[in-house]
Amino acid sequence: MRSSGCLGALALSCVAVQAMLTNFTLDDTAPSIVYTEAPILRCSPDDGECSPDFTSQLFNGTSTMTDGTIVIPFTGSAMFVYLSTLGDCIFNLDGTDVFEFSRPNSTHSDDILLAWANTSMADAPHILRISPKLEDWFIQLDYVIYSHNVPTFRRGAIIGGTVVGALAAAVLLSIGAFWLKRRVRQKRVATRGIPLGDNWVDKPSLRVSRDEEK
Ligand SMILES: *[C@@H]1O[C@H](CO)[C@@H](O)[C@H](O)[C@H]1NC(C)=O
Ligand SMILES: *[C@@H]1O[C@H](CO)[C@@H](O)[C@H](O)[C@H]1NC(C)=O
Ligand SMILES: *[C@@H]1O[C@H](CO)[C@@H](O)[C@H](O)[C@H]1NC(C)=O
Ligand SMILES: *[C@@H]1O[C@H](CO)[C@@H](O)[C@H](O)[C@H]1NC(C)=O
Repeated sequence: MRSSGCLGALALSCVAVQAMLTNFTLDDTAPSIVYTEAPILRCSPDDGECSPDFTSQLFNGTSTMTDGTIVIPFTGSAMFVYLSTLGDCIFNLDGTDVFEFSRPNSTHSDDILLAWANTSMADAPHILRISPKLEDWFIQLDYVIYSHNVPTFRRGAIIGGTVVGALAAAVLLSIGAFWLKRRVRQKRVATRGIPLGDNWVDKPSLRVSRDEEK
């Protein structure tokens, strides 16, 4: 079947081309995030060290406070970093300092802010390093989001779904046809040998056919 072959090739090419920018969230507790110094404080809802008013605002209830460098390897084209600081911090992307964050004076050191966003990176592996600018300044990391193009089988799945649906319909139809044939055959067998006498008064059509026989 030539046409279905073409359709198959089309579906394959759609699957290959389709990719969707997808966000992934890393909590401060994610195993892939490296704290080069032992954290000063870790907030979580159940350890009682941080107030519930604060932890209830955090992603998954946790944050990590450090005066050392935070190393975050990721693969993606965009990155969003949510944290609070005491003092400024430096963002270093793949070995180059790209941004210095100063918390606006109008905010509090407990306010979690979007400190750095970059949506113009190559969708490739990167290493982000966040460091307090001076000694005794610190960073309180809540979470990060990175965006990465993930191949998706959406369009392929829709075409696949149609094919599956058509196949199911064909199977149902053939089962239906088989069942109908069987019923007709059984009916024929069942009526065989029954004398069609004059007692079939309520079946005018049968009477007509008998009349025609004469
Ligand atoms: C990913 O998250 C960022 C920050 O919250 C948001 O601006 C962006 O629209 C999101 N992108 C997608 C594809 O969900
Ligand atoms: C949220 O925290 C719980 C433990 O409190 C942990 O098991 C879970 O993995 C965390 N979820 C994320 C997305 O980090
Ligand atoms: C914030 O405060 C610091 C020191 O108090 C000052 O040097 C700086 O100019 C202030 N920044 C703004 C945006 O007001
Ligand atoms: C964002 O990433 C691009 C590509 O790596 C870089 O050239 C640019 O300086 C970065 N901008 C910020 C604000 O980090």
